[in-house]
Amino acid sequence: MQNVVNAETQTSLVGKFNGAATKRALITGASSGMGLEYAELLAAQKVNLVLAARRREPMEKLATELRQKYGVEIVVEPIDLAVRGAAARLKSSLDDKSLQIDILVNNAGYGLHGDFLDTPLERTTDMMQLNITAVTELSFIFGQDMATRGAGQILLIASILSFQPVPGFAAYAATKSYVLSFGEALHDELRPRGVTVTCLCPGHTETGFDAAASAPVSPLLRFLTMKPRPVAETGLRALAKGKASVLPGFMNNIIVFSNRLTPRSMQRAVMKNVTGA
Ligand SMILES: NC(=O)c1ccc[n+]([C@@H]2O[C@H](COP(=O)([O-])OP(=O)(O)OC[C@H]3O[C@@H](n4cnc5c(N)ncnc54)[C@H](OP(=O)(O)O)[C@@H]3O)[C@@H](O)[C@H]2O)c1
Repeated sequence: MQNVVNAETQTSLVGKFNGAATKRALITGASSGMGLEYAELLAAQKVNLVLAARRREPMEKLATELRQKYGVEIVVEPIDLAVRGAAARLKSSLDDKSLQIDILVNNAGYGLHGDFLDTPLERTTDMMQLNITAVTELSFIFGQDMATRGAGQILLIASILSFQPVPGFAAYAATKSYVLSFGEALHDELRPRGVTVTCLCPGHTETGFDAAASAPVSPLLRFLTMKPRPVAETGLRALAKGKASVLPGFMNNIIVFSNRLTPRSMQRAVMKNVTGA
């Protein structure tokens, strides 16, 4: 994580989360990568936080740092969201503490690189449990509360891989296609009920993702890699503006736009090259 939210970032997000001082955001996957960035950007807006992921220690460290720097309230909830029923347990833990969630950053997720048949099936289904089921359950549970209050914001993290099939990331890319399709549909369904749903579709970003996915980084992919701060900022800005989805980075937009002009067989071949599969 960058140490300081720079002046440009502060200005570009200032006032975007109206009444931020009284709001609370739940950020899943807040122990690493982009999760750290959402946390700092929202804390800088005086949004109180709940941080959720499996590893307690990096979240406690982040919480201490952000409390000191921004004077916000932060609660740390260590939880494995890939375990069935985890979303409901997280909600009941927050209810016990009388913590209401106004902004849900549904960020926890990981990829699996490799041939589908060479990957133990359990690893694939565990990933689906986190990337699809937990994201769906969290959106349902916290979305219901938000709709009852007539206000709330949900950021879902899809991917540039949501837009086409990706050999080498077959199941992961499919989970992210689900997130984009689900999120854009929810955007329309929940808008009349006062809840904004936005899908952020990052391209390759410098986080713990490659290590978690055991994925090689090809020279082309390295060239396309973005820092996590501008990606997180793009997502939060789009959420504040009420957009259905957003794709950060000029080159990422070119790649996705080119899908409109090319056959799917070519898209698969390009992605195979880009991901180094
Ligand atoms: N980096 C990229 O290139 C890229 C591109 C497109 C989309 N994305 C998406 O961006 C999101 C954030 O990933 P990242 O790039 O920031 O990677 P990251 O640095 O590996 O962060 C992933 C986060 O998810 C948490 N997590 C993983 N398994 C979990 C579980 N079972 N229960 C609870 N939390 C869990 C991790 O925390 P613990 O290990 O402590 O549980 C970590 O905080 C993911 O949804 C990813 O698919 C990433």
